[in-house]
Amino acid sequence: MKNEEYPPSEDTFFIVENIENEKGNFALDVGSGSGYLTKLLTENFSFVVGTDINFPVLSKQTYKTQNLICCNGSDALNVKFDFIVCNLPYLATDEIIDIATDGGKDGFEIPKKIFDSVNNNLKENGKFVFVTSSLSKYQKLIDYVEKLGMKTRIIAKKKLFFEELILVEAIR
Ligand SMILES: C[S@@+](CC[C@H](N)C(=O)[O-])C[C@H]1O[C@@H](n2cnc3c(N)ncnc32)[C@H](O)[C@@H]1O
Repeated sequence: MKNEEYPPSEDTFFIVENIENEKGNFALDVGSGSGYLTKLLTENFSFVVGTDINFPVLSKQTYKTQNLICCNGSDALNVKFDFIVCNLPYLATDEIIDIATDGGKDGFEIPKKIFDSVNNNLKENGKFVFVTSSLSKYQKLIDYVEKLGMKTRIIAKKKLFFEELILVEAIR
């Protein structure tokens, strides 16, 4: 497993452009990485938590915030959030070599674990926003989230050189 921090990248900034006006009480950033999105959330939410499965990254992250927990998805949390964001490891890969980007088979294996987890921590009418890509079977991800009982819509798309980023909003 690679232990490097994922620096704020095209997908991070694409998410920022689309969530910077979100406001409320409780917000969660799953896969906090550098902490860039977690820190952004602290501007508009009163209580913000960041989680990441990679402890070495979480313990030294560049954009520091107060409430960080090392776990899969939101497994260690017993709080219901108004807003959850996740810059998923979405690439379709045969193996998980880089935990920051590799999503496993169809780009679904790791996202599924995260979806199953955050499903327990989203309030009624809460909003979950995640990024996926034309490089993964993104409709499979959307169908799965619908199966968990959330209503989804694609809120933004961005063409990059070799892929198209897709931002999905899911409401409980
Ligand atoms: C693409 S990076 C995003 C980092 C940062 N949020 C950003 O937008 O720049 C994905 C992050 O998710 C973390 N991650 C991977 N699998 C996870 C899981 N099952 N639960 C929580 N975090 C996970 C990785 O360690 C990595 O820091």
